[in-house]
Order: sequence, then structure tokens, then C-alpha cells
Amino acid sequence: MAVAEDLEVAPFLKGQPKKLFIGGRWADAADGKTFETRDPSTGEVLAHVAEAGAEDVDRAVSAARKSYEHGSWRELPPAERAKILWKVGDLIEERANEFAQLDSLDNGKPINEMLLFDVPLTAATFRYYAGWATKLDGATQQTSFPGSYLSYTRREPVGVVGQIIPWNFPLMMAAWKVAPALACGNSVVLKPSELTPLSALRLAEVLQEADVPDGVVNVLPGFGEVAGARLAAHPEVDKIAFTGSTEVGKLIAKASADSNLKRVSLELGGKSPNIVFADADLERAVSGAFLGIFFNQGQVCSAGSRMFVQQKVYDETVDELTNAVKDMQLGPGLDPMTQMGPLVSQGQMERVLGYITTGTSEGARLVTGGKRATELGEGYFVRPTIFADVDGKMRIAREEIFGPVLAAIPFADEDDLIAKANDSIYGLVAGLWTNDVRRAHRVAHALQAGTVYVNCYNVVDPSTPWGGFKQSGWGRELGPYALDLYTEVKNVIVDIG
Ligand code: NAI
Ligand code: MG
Repeated sequence: MAVAEDLEVAPFLKGQPKKLFIGGRWADAADGKTFETRDPSTGEVLAHVAEAGAEDVDRAVSAARKSYEHGSWRELPPAERAKILWKVGDLIEERANEFAQLDSLDNGKPINEMLLFDVPLTAATFRYYAGWATKLDGATQQTSFPGSYLSYTRREPVGVVGQIIPWNFPLMMAAWKVAPALACGNSVVLKPSELTPLSALRLAEVLQEADVPDGVVNVLPGFGEVAGARLAAHPEVDKIAFTGSTEVGKLIAKASADSNLKRVSLELGGKSPNIVFADADLERAVSGAFLGIFFNQGQVCSAGSRMFVQQKVYDETVDELTNAVKDMQLGPGLDPMTQMGPLVSQGQMERVLGYITTGTSEGARLVTGGKRATELGEGYFVRPTIFADVDGKMRIAREEIFGPVLAAIPFADEDDLIAKANDSIYGLVAGLWTNDVRRAHRVAHALQAGTVYVNCYNVVDPSTPWGGFKQSGWGRELGPYALDLYTEVKNVIVDIG
């Protein structure tokens, strides 16, 4: 596919096939394999990319290990690490348009969302963790054991960290993983999704430009079952951080248990409730529900895919939301008028269309959407879809669809709502809309979710912890919580008597 010459990303896309980044050098796969990544708005091939196999993972892990043992990064004075991470933030901001175009082409997402959300949050994440590099303090303990002791803790890096990320926010997910790992002094092997490998490779260039030493970050585009599985099972990897489906999250935990019990953090799926009480500001609640489910084509782990509405305002809320959806502009991500792009791949489109068929056959009422937008050509466009009168037992109310499909469910009162909202294997996020401050906190405390949004949705900041209850994962990313994921606590006890 020919990419327009005037795009800022054109020079990067020209050099093909894109290679693996190992030990600070660009390398072909050991077996010479490559794969294609596509532009989902047309289905055409966007670039050819080297495909990491098991041998390449081994090479990247040794490069990371070497850099770690050598101490080129972990022994750098913390203030120097901070400066470099801050510079990464600056370089990303300078190249905002290029990064925005890259993920927009590779993933399909609207360019304005890249420019207003993904790219600034990526730069902000590097800067936020630049700040933490100089604050990884320990503590002293008051011991009562007979004798006289000085007891203190240190935070030390975990070592070589494998990081496997998904395709829904390719650049931003790389930042959530790489920035805290580097702030804590680890060396990294990052595997982007096979559907969106490009921005992580461009990020590798930026990291090198910012003077991150060779071998400290290695980037391996490749498939989950091969490169991802090898990384998760690798005996020389000390920790694995994963974002993606709950199904694969379980495989990662198992691979750790079957190999070296490497530390595992998991950010997995969701089926998040977005709750509208009758006393809410309905206009805001409807905008929030719209953003909650249609942002990023609904391909968001925190998507508010179950909309619970109190009976009194149920019909009105569903009608208002349906009206809002009717004017939605679908199109390729690069078109600045686009509000909703294509789904990431043919496979994801078929999966989502499959759930729509399931919803209809389960007896839910299809209010709007429900089909592919074929007038837009071969791209993987699915119309924004709302099912009303959904029952909590239906598959469309229980399983993560990861597309622009909303299930609207009525509820009677607070007790009924809490039972229904918590009836899920997931617990990532919940949203609630009410003008009653007492109700807001009461319900926020009763919901089983890692984040509860009150009168807002999808607000994300590097300072706020992110992760889930139940099968939505293990651990919390972002904020100071991520430092626990990327350090080991060491206690030193000295006899000073
Ligand atoms: P996935 O979980 O298979 O992929 C996420 C990452 O894991 C990718 O980098 C992939 O290469 C890697 N991976 C896949 N199999 C692996 C294995 N056996 N060992 C190690 N790494 C492996 O997700 P997929 O197939 O792209 O999407 C399927 C569904 O998963 C979506 O429809 C959605 O429901 C869910 N999903 C959830 C995400 C979230 O952020 N919560 C992100 C992506 C997908
Ligand atoms: Mg792609």
C-alpha cells in the first residue's frame, strides 16, 4: 500500500521490512520470517515486519540480561535515569503527529483521539515515572528483638522484565509498561501485538535517541503463541507484565508457574457497568455512556459495555443515546472528521458481528446498528450497536465483546443494581451517574471494580492506579503502585550493639 508522501510517518514506513530491535541494533528474525500488518480501514497491507521466533526471544533476553548485569542502566545515578526518561517524553511530544498517524494507520483509531489522548498520555507517563526514578526510597524499622539492630529496606529492580501488550492502545500500552520498568532500573523485552507492531518500533528509535543504553529495551514484533509464549516461559526472565485477554492471562500465569515462578502482573478484560440513576444529570450521563462504549470503537478494557439504567428513566436514556449514535461519523482514522474508525482486524470484526448475532438470538432488542458498514468498502467497520432489554444471563451481558456493542439493562433500586452490577467474573471499572453525594460514595464502595468513575468515564492519568478485581487481573499499573510491580523489597538488618 502506498502511504501519502506528505504524511509525517512516510519516512518511517518507507524502510521495510521493519526489523527486530535487539541489543541496540536492528536485526532480521533468525529464520528470516516476516509478517504483514494491515490498515484496517482498507484491509490493505501497511508494512512487512520481521517476525520474532523463539531463538530471537532468547537473543533479546540475553541482550537484556547483559545490559542488566553490566549495570549500564540500573547503576546510572537515578537523576540521570530521570533526565533520559523526561527526554523520551519530550521526543514523543515533538513527534506527536507522526506517532498519531502511525497508530491511526496500524490500528484504525481516529487521529484526534491519538492527538488528544494516546500521545499526550504516553509523553505524560514517561515524565511521571521520570519523577519517581529519584524517589525509590526505603524505610527504617523499629525492631524489638533483644539487642541493637539497624533495619532498613531498599527497593531494587526485579531484573529482566518481559512485557506483552495488546493492540488497542499500541503506543500508550508500551509507555505504561516501559516507563515504570525503566524508572526502577530494569531491563526490558517488549512484545507488541502482531496486529499493531509499528509504534513500538518507532518508540525504540526514540528511546535510543534519548540515550537509553543498548540492550536495556529490546522490541520483538511477533505472534503471541510463539514469541509471547517463549517470553512467558523463559527461565531467564524475572518478571512478566501482560495486558490482553483473560484467556491468555491465565496462560501467562501458568507459564510462570511451570518455569521459574517469575513475577506476574496482569491487566485483563472487563465487562464494566456504567450506571445511570434516575436522579442523575441525564444529558451528561448519556454523553458518558456514549464515550464509555464507543471510544476507540469499544475496543477498551474499561469499556462501559453494560449500561444499567433505573427504570424511571430507562426508556428516555436509551432513546437519547440512540439519537446520539445516529449522527456518528464512521471513517478511516486519518480523516479528522472520523468519530469512529474500523475494528482492528477482520478477526475482531467477525468476533463482534458474531456477538451481535448471539444477542439477537438470545432475545435482546436490537435498537440501532447491528451490521457492518459495507458502504465504506473493505475496511472492518461495524455500526455502533445498542441492545436494549438485555437480561444479565445473556452472553452479551457476560462476555467481553471488545467492540461498539452496548447492552442496556434496567434496574429497580440500589440493592437490585449492586447485585446485578457485581454479577460478573470481571471487576475492572465501573461508572455511576447520580447527583446524590451520599449515594455516589455508598455505591462506589459496594461495586467490585479497580476504578469507579462518578459522573465521568474513561478519565486516565499516569498518577491513578489501573487494574482490576477478580478475573480482570493481578496488580495495579500506573501511579506509585507500578513501582511495586517493578522492584523487589530488600530488608537489611545490621547488628550495631
Ligand atoms: P490476546 O490476549 O490474544 O493478545 C494480547 C497480547 O498477547 C498480544 O501481544 C498477543 O500477541 C499476546 N499473546 C497471545 N497469545 C499469547 C500466548 N499464548 N502467550 C503469550 N502471549 C500471547 O488478545 P486478542 O486475541 O488480540 O483479542 C481477543 C480478545 O481479547 C478481544 O476480543 C478482547 O476481548 C480481549 N482483549 C482484551 C484487551 C484488554 O486490554 N483487556 C486487549 C486485547 C484483547
Ligand atoms: Mg495493523
